[in-house]
Amino acid sequence: MDTARADAAVIGLGHVGLPTALGLAEIGWRVVGVDSAPERVAMVADGQAPFYEPGLQDLLTAHHRSGRFLVTDSLADAVARAEVLFVCVSTPQLPDGAADLSAVEHVARTIAATLNGDKLVVDKSTTPVRTAERIKGVLSRYRNGAHAVEVAVNPEFLQEGHAVHDVLHPDRIVLGVESDRARALLTDLYRPLLDRLPNPGECAVCDRRGVTTDRSDRVITTNLETAELIKHAANSFLATKISFINMVADLCEVTGADITQVARGIGLDPRIGPQFLGAGLGFGGSCLPKDVRAFIRIAEDHRVDFALLREVAAINERRADRLMEKVRSALWILKDKTCAVLGVSFKPGTDDVREAVSLRVVTRLLAEGAAVRVYDPVAMPAFQAAVPPSPPVTYCASPYEAAAGAHALLLLTEWDEFRTLAWDRLRAAMAVPVIIDGRNLLDPAAARAEGFDYFSFGRP
Ligand code: UDX
Repeated sequence: MDTARADAAVIGLGHVGLPTALGLAEIGWRVVGVDSAPERVAMVADGQAPFYEPGLQDLLTAHHRSGRFLVTDSLADAVARAEVLFVCVSTPQLPDGAADLSAVEHVARTIAATLNGDKLVVDKSTTPVRTAERIKGVLSRYRNGAHAVEVAVNPEFLQEGHAVHDVLHPDRIVLGVESDRARALLTDLYRPLLDRLPNPGECAVCDRRGVTTDRSDRVITTNLETAELIKHAANSFLATKISFINMVADLCEVTGADITQVARGIGLDPRIGPQFLGAGLGFGGSCLPKDVRAFIRIAEDHRVDFALLREVAAINERRADRLMEKVRSALWILKDKTCAVLGVSFKPGTDDVREAVSLRVVTRLLAEGAAVRVYDPVAMPAFQAAVPPSPPVTYCASPYEAAAGAHALLLLTEWDEFRTLAWDRLRAAMAVPVIIDGRNLLDPAAARAEGFDYFSFGRP
């Protein structure tokens, strides 16, 4: 399809853009992807996924072969090929908490300057409410020619670790549009996706999440501002659930209650729901922490005092302190002790360490004079690139190697393989059998029966 037209262009091939582009190819569309990082374009053009995400490599290989996914390093080329342009560039955080929208602005200006026909610019990046209005302003100021160019907002709700699943099985599709044309273009693009959604009982992940709504109910059409607000409100609400349950866990800890049962006891109420009530080390990653801070800032900018969210963020900041208190209470002095750290990605299923609690915990352990031995099934290279090189961390090939000579084993990410650790191998490897479970992954009674001093969050 080298010079051919595409059904959609995806601008930005990161954790949102690449699964989106491949998802569209999977449902039958011809898609052109573009990224500003030449090494990323080279890898993707070579058929190699630039980050770990289950199923992504297979999809990339498949659509490399099918010819439905093409990648280019020229934004102008991508813009020229398609009418529908998805903007999936990153919006990192500025020092004051606001989102850095320079990449969005740059893309909008380039689109304006290279218009070769009617376009629909679809903002999928997480951007503050009223950004679409700004994009419209840029497009009209810099536009070249008399073509019709419109803006829509179509936030993405995928979770890392099952991004491919989420793109293909969305629980909702939010379309912020201003015209029938925009609505029709996007609805047509998503129709094959809606047509192939699984029925209840056909997809374990959807069933676990309780996605039971009728497929026609999954498309929500709104104005631009509403679609923008939905994205920040969703992530901030998820973060609020996590900080809420973490405070209840702290209360459980001092009263003898069990947070797992409290979470189940409240989560069975359908008004509350069972998800995102996992207590422990709180939320990390590239979205929830950043989006909460951005939402606080957005509210401030509009003179709304969202004090609730300031507390959500503050509670989350304190989770690493809570872990360190447990480590100190178990080991007293950390100097000259060895800590094994299992799991460094911000959550299982990804090699992403952005805002991972592991970075803060390992830095503090090292600062207090402990030696740190780390194991993670996929995230060690990313972690190594993110932590200061000195003092050095020892990277290990298995949990047991990490446990060698350790005075405490700290479980920071709930990878499935940590559920079934061989207790006797761990005990034999460690200097002292102490486990501090930051994700409430293991069964306290089983760990204690195996001779470990076991500590978790909010569980007796
Ligand atoms: C999030 C949103 O879930 C997704 O809808 C949005 O599109 C992007 O941001 P993601 O960043 O991939 O997705 O991570 P998520 O699965 O939400 O987890 C975020 C953090 O919260 C992780 O560190 C996780 O360990 C933590 N978490 C999650 C908890 O501490 N407890 C829980 O019960 C759930």
